[in-house]
Amino acid sequence: MTGVPPMRRAIGGGTMLAGVIGWPVSHSRSPLLHNFWLARYGIDGAYVPLPVRPGLFDVAVRGLQAAGFRGANVTIPHKEAAFAIADHLHRSAVRSGSVNTLVFAGDGRIEAHSTDGDGFVANLEAHGVDVTRGPALVLGAGGAARAIVASLTDRGIAVSIANRTRARAEDLAHALASPETRIAVTDWDRWTDGLPDHALLVNTTSLGMHGGPDDVFAPDLARAPAGMVVADIVYVPRMTPLLRAAAARGLPVVDGTGMLLHQARLGFREWFGVDPAVDADIQALLDADLAG
Ligand SMILES: NC(=O)c1ccc[n+]([C@@H]2O[C@H](COP(=O)([O-])OP(=O)(O)OC[C@H]3O[C@@H](n4cnc5c(N)ncnc54)[C@H](OP(=O)(O)O)[C@@H]3O)[C@@H](O)[C@H]2O)c1
Repeated sequence: MTGVPPMRRAIGGGTMLAGVIGWPVSHSRSPLLHNFWLARYGIDGAYVPLPVRPGLFDVAVRGLQAAGFRGANVTIPHKEAAFAIADHLHRSAVRSGSVNTLVFAGDGRIEAHSTDGDGFVANLEAHGVDVTRGPALVLGAGGAARAIVASLTDRGIAVSIANRTRARAEDLAHALASPETRIAVTDWDRWTDGLPDHALLVNTTSLGMHGGPDDVFAPDLARAPAGMVVADIVYVPRMTPLLRAAAARGLPVVDGTGMLLHQARLGFREWFGVDPAVDADIQALLDADLAG
């Protein structure tokens, strides 16, 4: 593969350290992405998987801090513990109700961010989508949905949410309600009726995911207006049945791999001091890993 720098570098006393805390954590693509960027920018740093059992999160985080780590990403099952341990929750964490990135500040404080929502929006922008153009129809009301709805509404976009469990969609709308936000809840059984009123459709459910609850999820998009952007955050497979159905109708599509790449940028910038580029090389690296 062209343009991909060597992945192994010497580790020494000055090496800056970060990692991803989860249980299990071996499936995480974060080490692949961060170590690629470290090599690309010639940074003396390393990013490691940190398998931490449930119940040991706090002791692990305090230990990493004491050992001089710059911070960490946090994944299942520790996202609630990460929320609780933070000394300062940034707006993204408060709005999305979750934390996936911890930054250990020089004064000993733990700063917490959620980067999924802004990563989603940054990826849309990278695909040339005018994100100020709404309204958006969001399928799902889980953790990822909340982060995405928060980021969309923060940009003034009106959002309709359709979720199998309607009460969960209503809870999400309630949690994010403010005088500035416009969030409606729509019936899961009839969400395709609302397609003509929307410019962006986002699947945040696990439908369409390989090995998920329904990996052939391909709703009827006959009512989608011309030019509607269809985005899926499921990234295995990269082209989900929903995206294939949209592409077959000539609609622009945005797959879930770009969100995965963009959500990693904030942590890298905070820990290692460079805003890393999401370019064709790192996309190819991720694609090859997902295919393998
Ligand atoms: N691209 C990225 O960077 C990225 C980042 C985060 C997550 N993701 C992907 O996003 C998906 C959701 O993640 P999450 O953390 O939000 O999960 P979550 O909190 O567990 O939410 C799952 C959502 O899927 C819905 N769902 C599950 N099974 C369903 C079914 N059979 N029929 C209809 N709806 C169903 C749930 O509806 P109910 O409320 O009715 O159960 C809920 O809205 C996963 O596939 C994950 O891999 C991608």
